[in-house]
Amino acid sequence: MENIITIDEQMIPFKTGQTIMDAAMEAGVYIPHLCHNPEFEPHGSCRVCVVKVNGRMMSSCTTKATAGQKIENNTPELQENRRCLTQMLFVEGNHVCPGCEKSGNCQLQAVAYYTEMLSPRFQHFYPYRELDPTHPDVIIDFNRCILCELCVRASRDIDQKNIFAMSGRGIKAHLIINSPTGKLGDTDLNVNDKAVQVCPVGAIIKRKQGYMNPIGERFYDQAPIDEMGDIAEPHAGAKHHD
Ligand code: FES
Repeated sequence: MENIITIDEQMIPFKTGQTIMDAAMEAGVYIPHLCHNPEFEPHGSCRVCVVKVNGRMMSSCTTKATAGQKIENNTPELQENRRCLTQMLFVEGNHVCPGCEKSGNCQLQAVAYYTEMLSPRFQHFYPYRELDPTHPDVIIDFNRCILCELCVRASRDIDQKNIFAMSGRGIKAHLIINSPTGKLGDTDLNVNDKAVQVCPVGAIIKRKQGYMNPIGERFYDQAPIDEMGDIAEPHAGAKHHD
């Protein structure tokens, strides 16, 4: 059988070994995702990319494409699940988009727009989380972290520095800094490190660059995320706007 899957009735070719997400990205078909970045091994933690494969819910970033799979992606049921997950992320942290330098360049915000999230639905946790402004070039704001672990993976696998790590489990899981004081200023993080570039939200941001890219001219100001793809890694097949 040919290497073809169908996503919402559209025939999509894939190469052996590719995941459903890989094949979809290559074909320019958007499946929402937050913890996935094609430069890294799939993580499978955010569940935003869950699709129905032959009637069963599976995460598309970790499920291998197999010839003949019939996949549902853009359906009211799946969009509702994704909206619910996005709402949970918004209430679990302190995401105040109008005051965030990443607004317009943020995948969480863009997925919220894509899933037509209009309210938080759940009660806000309003957790107390501190900012770490101790590094001269980078700020980390734990209020905005969505635990995708992209900075952990980038620092470990590409920067070879292991600056970030996860601690705790379940609702207590949180990002920590590997340094004697636990502060970013006591690490050898460089502003050009991959770990700084890869944050999909406003948790890790560069200092001294506020509003260099004005609101209205940011990545997702041009078009919704299903057309633009990831800010760090736009879809090969996504429509791009000048
Ligand atoms: Fe697949 Fe997060 S993108 S689980």
